[in-house]
Amino acid sequence: MRAIDKAARPNITIAVIIKPNGDRSQATTIGSISVIMFFIYYTPIKLHNQYNYVNKNIRSSSQFTPDKKEKAVITLSNGFSFEFVTGSGSLKYGLGWAHERLLIRLGLINPRLFANVMKTPTIPPRKGNYVWWHPWTCIRPIFEGGKLVGIVNSVGLTNPGPDWVAEHVGPKLDSKKVPVIASVHGEETAGIRIANRIFNDIDVVAVELNAWCPNTGNQISDSDTVIRQAEAVKEESAHPVLVKLSPVHDFLYIVPRLVGIAEAIDINSVPWPIVFPNRKSPLQGFFGCGMPGAVSGKKAQPHTWACAREIKRMGLIPVICPSMWSLEDVVQMLDSEKFPAVSFASRHIPFAWLPTRYVRQYQALHWKVAE
Ligand SMILES: Cc1cc2nc3c(=O)[nH]c(=O)nc-3n(C[C@H](O)[C@H](O)[C@H](O)COP(=O)(O)O)c2cc1C
Repeated sequence: MRAIDKAARPNITIAVIIKPNGDRSQATTIGSISVIMFFIYYTPIKLHNQYNYVNKNIRSSSQFTPDKKEKAVITLSNGFSFEFVTGSGSLKYGLGWAHERLLIRLGLINPRLFANVMKTPTIPPRKGNYVWWHPWTCIRPIFEGGKLVGIVNSVGLTNPGPDWVAEHVGPKLDSKKVPVIASVHGEETAGIRIANRIFNDIDVVAVELNAWCPNTGNQISDSDTVIRQAEAVKEESAHPVLVKLSPVHDFLYIVPRLVGIAEAIDINSVPWPIVFPNRKSPLQGFFGCGMPGAVSGKKAQPHTWACAREIKRMGLIPVICPSMWSLEDVVQMLDSEKFPAVSFASRHIPFAWLPTRYVRQYQALHWKVAE
């Protein structure tokens, strides 16, 4: 903690000293920089210390033993089990976006706690709407009553293609250390087959068919196309297959036909007009990409959770409950509603450390003092 104080205090002091000299703009600039530096350095380090406390004093202490309660998790045919997922796009291709890599180094994001679905590569590669130096044209926060309640995005599958991913990311993947799930999507089943073959040669624990992206401008894939594409992935995949459906798919028709093909079902974001039928999307206003986009996070829960509950009720294929927003959500869905796994995606924006924090807190709840 002393190192933090030293790092944070000089910035604040400078701002206070300069202001009385009368140069307001200089003081404001330095003040702003200080505040930013404070949040960049102080907040993550403080959280890091808290996590270390939880790890040292709860998880690894011999005084504590794991809760014996049988927990349902998803176990794939290759033996890989998981309870927590980072949704596609959350950690880029599984190893983190640039800003997340720093947080991973600090221990504030622990990708080992999750099965991490990579951002979807497509054939052909797609330009989409995402540009790293102005992401706000296709990703915006949704606030209600001053609180962040979700994210609307219209990234539209910006990606360099599966060859690039296999060449540049593939060699860095080690499923024993960080489990990554590949993702495939395509208008043409042929493209999906090619991507799938490419991913057979990289060290992933599964492959997920992203059956429809609401932001590519394409019509929703019809049910039989989804089933055909899932069969195509299954036929040639060296890995277990997951299928990611949209809440607007006819999942009551699709899911029974995926038995024997998909080992788990994942759920995507909700098209903006379904969540907000009478409100214009911010992505269609100033500095937006012009498309309404799709909603994720807390604001999407009534739709994504209804879909997850329906699929779970069928009892045919394990379903990953999406849209985790708080520790309470995790406890509700894993402990009360008995979903075998939950997924965090938009909760990473911009607080990329929160999913790791909630998982650690949840795990701490399930460790108890030995008698
Ligand atoms: C910025 C962003 C990029 C995304 N990229 C992909 C993607 O490449 N492939 C995919 O299947 N889903 C993608 N998604 C969808 C998420 O993986 C997730 O399914 C969806 O946003 C629901 O999030 P939630 O669980 O937080 O409600 C993306 C979402 C966001 C916000």
